[in-house]
Amino acid sequence: MCIKPCDGLVGTIRVPGDKSISHRAAILGSLATGQTKVDGFLQSADCLSTLACLDLLGVRFRWDEDSLLIEGRGLRGLSEPTAVLDAGNSGTTMRLLAGVVAGHDFLTILTGDASLCKRPMDRVANPLREMGAQVDGRSEGRFPPLAIRGGPLKPISYRTPVPSAQVKSAILLASLYASGVSKVAEPWLSRDHTERMMSYFGIPIAKGDGWVAIGPVTEEPRGRHIAIPGDLSSAAFPIAVAACSPGSILRVENVGVNPTRTGFFDVLRAMGATVELEKEREVCGEPVADVVVEGTELRGVTVAGGMIPRLIDEIPILAVVAAKAKGRTVVRDARELRVKETDRIQELGAALGELGVVVETRDDGLVIDGPQEIRGGAVSSRGDHRLALALACAGLLAKQPVIVTGFDCADVSFPGFIDVLTDLGLQVEVA
Ligand code: S3P
Repeated sequence: MCIKPCDGLVGTIRVPGDKSISHRAAILGSLATGQTKVDGFLQSADCLSTLACLDLLGVRFRWDEDSLLIEGRGLRGLSEPTAVLDAGNSGTTMRLLAGVVAGHDFLTILTGDASLCKRPMDRVANPLREMGAQVDGRSEGRFPPLAIRGGPLKPISYRTPVPSAQVKSAILLASLYASGVSKVAEPWLSRDHTERMMSYFGIPIAKGDGWVAIGPVTEEPRGRHIAIPGDLSSAAFPIAVAACSPGSILRVENVGVNPTRTGFFDVLRAMGATVELEKEREVCGEPVADVVVEGTELRGVTVAGGMIPRLIDEIPILAVVAAKAKGRTVVRDARELRVKETDRIQELGAALGELGVVVETRDDGLVIDGPQEIRGGAVSSRGDHRLALALACAGLLAKQPVIVTGFDCADVSFPGFIDVLTDLGLQVEVA
């Protein structure tokens, strides 16, 4: 696709449903008894992978116009899959379902695409083994494909070495099958959608400073109605372009603003942008608001520590914003970026370099001195959806058009991105 520079963004938009919450709605709806109706489910490649895997575990889904109807099987109603579960590109699918099947007395094989098969799974395999599941995988159990033979599990008290919601969620889901109370502590708080949705389904969850406890689970969760807000991580792309384009005023309606996810807004404010939340409300246990951003000249900022998990998926677009901001932007403590869909430190540095932006890559982050001209030109998405979207946004802020090859992978999280831009009056050529 070819994207031309713009003079800013003015208007009101909506973005598709939250990816993290959609995965959890599909999984918890499957494990509840009775029907769960989900509105706003993200029909992206990743979430459809979760549905396809759950289908192989015996769960039936249907669509009623835009609502997803899940016929829940109850906690112990899944059946042994007769084929390999394919999580595609989705780490969330693989890690969360690993937790679910660890509690089932049957064999499950989980695989994924070339990118997912390079991503570390020992972070979930280790605690699940400690709970009593047999988990094997390639390279001494560290990488997919994973073979999991589940069964009765012991509760666990576990401190995760990295702040990862996927690891925390895998343990919480496995703990549904453990007799007693399990506890997970993390170095910094990661997104808490699983805890919130479990509470919404009536599962006993207690939270403290840096830890969450679950159980004992004595009652089956019952199916519920879930309304999923727009994905902040998708909204972040147009919001970022608006924030660094003086004259922009952009409203994004109905966005999830869970405080474990809103780090990017805090950072944009620290850079000088006006980002306001309007009509704040709670929907199905999640905070939701309309986000209004006004553009201005931004300044560089340092992002590190506990802020990182609050904006981990927004770092590719933050790097683009940093190129336009005056002064130095430093991202530290973000080594996790190296084990995302690509090594996002290396690939972000290389891709922005191809557009004329000088990025210093470090072991655990990036340094960008701005303002720099984003020259434009052709660049590959590297098959990474968030890089594809960030590079397209770089095109909106560039001197010359940007051609992003392999842009189709943006459908992993943000189907309809081009329609959102065209609704704002921008011209995009789909090559
Ligand atoms: C996610 C958690 C994060 C995030 C990913 C979605 C989730 O990964 O980067 O896009 O839905 O739990 P980690 O938990 O590995 O940090």
